[in-house]
Amino acid sequence: DWNSGNVIEEQVARIREQVGSARVISALSGGVDSAVSTALVHRAIGDQLTAVFVDHGLLRKGEREQVEQDYVASTGVRLITVDAAETFLGHLEGVTDPEQKRKIIGREFIRAFEKVQRELVEEAKAEGEPIKFLVQGTLYPDVVESGGGAGTANIKSHHNVGGLPDDLDFALIEPLRTLFKDEVRAIGRELGLPEAIVGRQPFPGPGLGIRIVGEVTADRLEILRDADAIAREELSAAGLDGVIWQCPVVLLADVRSVGVQGDGRTYGHPIVLRPVSSEDAMTADWTRLPYDVLSKISNRITNEVREVNRVVLDVTSKPPGTIEWE
Ligand code: XMP
Repeated sequence: DWNSGNVIEEQVARIREQVGSARVISALSGGVDSAVSTALVHRAIGDQLTAVFVDHGLLRKGEREQVEQDYVASTGVRLITVDAAETFLGHLEGVTDPEQKRKIIGREFIRAFEKVQRELVEEAKAEGEPIKFLVQGTLYPDVVESGGGAGTANIKSHHNVGGLPDDLDFALIEPLRTLFKDEVRAIGRELGLPEAIVGRQPFPGPGLGIRIVGEVTADRLEILRDADAIAREELSAAGLDGVIWQCPVVLLADVRSVGVQGDGRTYGHPIVLRPVSSEDAMTADWTRLPYDVLSKISNRITNEVREVNRVVLDVTSKPPGTIEWE
């Protein structure tokens, strides 16, 4: 019968056999799937693995630290972080169209990853053990979905760490290919990963870039990051993490409205809360959050984030509204 300890043992043996003494790279996104697949491969082959984390500057507050500190501390993985925020922001300058944003972020992600990859390949060659494998956090539903062609792919061009270049000379290691999300979480816990990573709700590959309606700038990212951190903190404090599927927080950067804050008139931006309940993200309903939680989030955001003077609630199901605004 199914037990995470058995799966780990089985996969560790299989990975060791597949890899031999070769080197392996893995891309970490901060999400559950890449975190668990990477940890599993690390359990099998230790420092033959190098994990690469591209910080595109579109992450939420604390996410980079979570990977660089908590994840590394709990696994011992050799990690290279690529600081690509400036490059990404540069390419996003003046861009407001959602699909264009998604394409740019996806393309730049691959570029940033390939750059480190080339360096790692050279380094490994010099040391006499070539890199032959790439880890992918593919789950069973991903396998089924890409075969069936279903999903939201036609509506939005999804980008995630599964969207790495496929013209590489690498073979894939996909230790989660037969598993469902809850099984992956169980394995992650068994491997000792931090709960903040293992229990993480879905977060899109293009990150906060598609949660700013309008141009993405450093200042706007800062505003959204602060508002999002407050919403997440209050939802967790109210014990609602298990109730909602996810709660995108969206900055309507090109909209301004009049408010009164402190001693005077303000002309600030609205923040949208988009709490949803869902089984698989294909359909979703808006979550009826308790009024006192909504009120607390609203009060805190408008008090603590200077540029925001209005918090609004998205009460649209999917369909017709997608979960993310872009
Ligand atoms: P939508 O907005 O299409 O979102 O209703 C469905 C689910 O997918 C997530 N999402 C993404 N995940 N790369 C990802 O890895 C993406 O480009 C992307 N776009 C949306 C979204 O957060 C929701 O869980």
